[in-house]
Amino acid sequence: KEIKLFCPATIANLSCGFDVLGLCLDNAGDEMIVRKVDQKGVRITKIAGADLPLETEKNVSGVAALAMLETLDELDFGFEIEIYKNIKAGSGIGSSAASSAGAVFGINELLGRPYSRKDLVQFAMQGEKLASGNAHADNVAPALLGGFTLVRSYAPLDIIRIDSPEELYATVVHPQIELKTSDARSVLKQNVSLKSAIMQWGNVGGLIAGLYTKDYDLIGRSLHDEIVEPLRSVLIPGFDQIKQTALENGALGSGISGSGPSIFALSRGKNTADQIAKAMSEVYEKMNLPYEIHVSKIN
Ligand code: HSE
Repeated sequence: KEIKLFCPATIANLSCGFDVLGLCLDNAGDEMIVRKVDQKGVRITKIAGADLPLETEKNVSGVAALAMLETLDELDFGFEIEIYKNIKAGSGIGSSAASSAGAVFGINELLGRPYSRKDLVQFAMQGEKLASGNAHADNVAPALLGGFTLVRSYAPLDIIRIDSPEELYATVVHPQIELKTSDARSVLKQNVSLKSAIMQWGNVGGLIAGLYTKDYDLIGRSLHDEIVEPLRSVLIPGFDQIKQTALENGALGSGISGSGPSIFALSRGKNTADQIAKAMSEVYEKMNLPYEIHVSKIN
């Protein structure tokens, strides 16, 4: 018995929501096959498209799967996982999250769903911990639940699915450099000023309100990051120019996707999202910088 999965790419943070907000892309992602086999335990039998470890304990899928199986009575069978990577590691669109979420989702399906999708987040987070040293849930939650998600709290874990308007599209450009999440986290300060915090939580509230009320202008006004973007954007080639280009071409807002180097823009309608993609491409072409670009409905 086996299941073939699409493991979606995700955009974490969304400017104001560092480590708490994320969204799921509908057409960028990996594929995975999870197979129930007689041999006990979890084995990664194939990884195509990336040079990643096959050892279960060193692979994010393996670690997430083991975290899940530890909580169940011992099984007299096991699982094999084949991973077909399209999302590059260190791209900022949730490569490790796609693999972690895919593994636990697939095993859960093959077991007859002992867990809800929300329950699976805590196991997939263990893959994120292996990948970046930090068990953040803002990529695995949207990968598992779809759409927009909010991590209202980490302890106890409280994940909320957020409604979003139909016509919301994301454009994501990935300048082809690798930026490790652990490195992008090491530039952050451990303390923020009260003044910055007030702006940030005002924007988080505004963004959530905008999503629920389909107020695109409010969504745009709220896509601002006072705390993380100023420190990380210097690591991303052409960041200011790409962001400005996105805004000039009709984006509601733009910022760093996850820990970067990908840059996202949200817009109303596919035409605007395509126009932004074209304009962003021109910026990197002029800079002679290789890039990949996706336009995706938020799903
Ligand atoms: N919230 C995490 C970070 C996402 O920005 O470090 C990593 O993809």
